[in-house]
Amino acid sequence: MDRRMKAIIYPKYGPAEVMQMAERPIPEPGEGEVLVEIKAAALNPIDYVIRSGHMWPVTGFRFPKIPGSDFAGGVKNIGKKVNNIKVNDLVYGFSPTFVGGACAEYIVVKADSIAHMPTTLNFQQSAALPLAAQTAMQAMRDLANMQAGQSVFIHGASGGVGQLAVQIAKVMGLKISASCSFRNTEMVASLGADEVFDYTKTDIRKLGQQFDLFFDVYGNMPLGKVWHQITEKGMHVTTIPSPLNFLQQINPFAKRRNRVVVVKSRREDLLLLNSWVESGAVKPIIDRVYPLAEVVAAHQYQESKRARGKVILQVAPE
Ligand SMILES: NC(=O)c1ccc[n+]([C@@H]2O[C@H](COP(=O)([O-])OP(=O)(O)OC[C@H]3O[C@@H](n4cnc5c(N)ncnc54)[C@H](OP(=O)(O)O)[C@@H]3O)[C@@H](O)[C@H]2O)c1
Repeated sequence: MDRRMKAIIYPKYGPAEVMQMAERPIPEPGEGEVLVEIKAAALNPIDYVIRSGHMWPVTGFRFPKIPGSDFAGGVKNIGKKVNNIKVNDLVYGFSPTFVGGACAEYIVVKADSIAHMPTTLNFQQSAALPLAAQTAMQAMRDLANMQAGQSVFIHGASGGVGQLAVQIAKVMGLKISASCSFRNTEMVASLGADEVFDYTKTDIRKLGQQFDLFFDVYGNMPLGKVWHQITEKGMHVTTIPSPLNFLQQINPFAKRRNRVVVVKSRREDLLLLNSWVESGAVKPIIDRVYPLAEVVAAHQYQESKRARGKVILQVAPE
């Protein structure tokens, strides 16, 4: 007989209320995979975007689905050809967003997409990091190839990705300008931003400055609105893929270089992140923690777009 686990499932696309607690079989790890007993999971906006059905051409109509990607927990079983991870190791990472599966007691993930948790963080703090931190890292380091001394503007600096982008930009030695609403300006400055603009008072399209990178984390300042605020050799990076972005990327007449970040979970990136966390340079900000059973309220809060840092689900006691 199948061994069973508690999981949040949804039997169709819809509002947060379509999610419910259920029992599902515990998955088995295949070659190169590990089974993790999850202690904490973190939400990301893509979770409610998928749950609402907006990504149906990619996510299809196979139900029930288990939402969630970010997790931290302990390894319970390993498949063949897994070398770097043992049973009982504490690990963190994220499963591919279109696959999900983290709002459950157990998940199977590829061993090379996860890493040991930072030694200085608990499960909730660890779960807060993988997707958001790697988005910031891969946007600024890999796409924009930012070097110490260069300048970045981080638009939407107080949410899950933004708060980590500011801290990672600091580690990278960048000059940081950032935007958020008035209630978060002090927090963003305390994370390391050199100047912080309240976008409710200052028009971000009229700053009269140029930056080597404009990182549109929130996703409402596309290249067409802010290209004049990017240096000639600079770059615009957004988190929101759109047909226009892809056309601009291949347009030889585009005013500035531009890219869309599509985050991937990589063991080597998580290990680099561990070194920053363990040195004290990067620390996740957690806004709210909900028990797994209150996933509906947690999704509704994430969907309000007012989260300061991360929203966490406590799946099992620490
Ligand atoms: N492509 C990828 O690989 C990838 C990866 C990760 C995330 N993303 C996308 O990136 C976006 C941000 O993700 P996230 O996790 O940071 O989201 P989040 O945590 O939900 O962001 C919440 C923040 O958004 C800010 N905000 C709300 N309205 C705003 C506005 N009009 N202008 C500027 N900021 C505003 C809020 O700050 P204030 O209250 O201070 O305004 C709040 O702190 C999402 O759309 C997500 O889907 C994409």
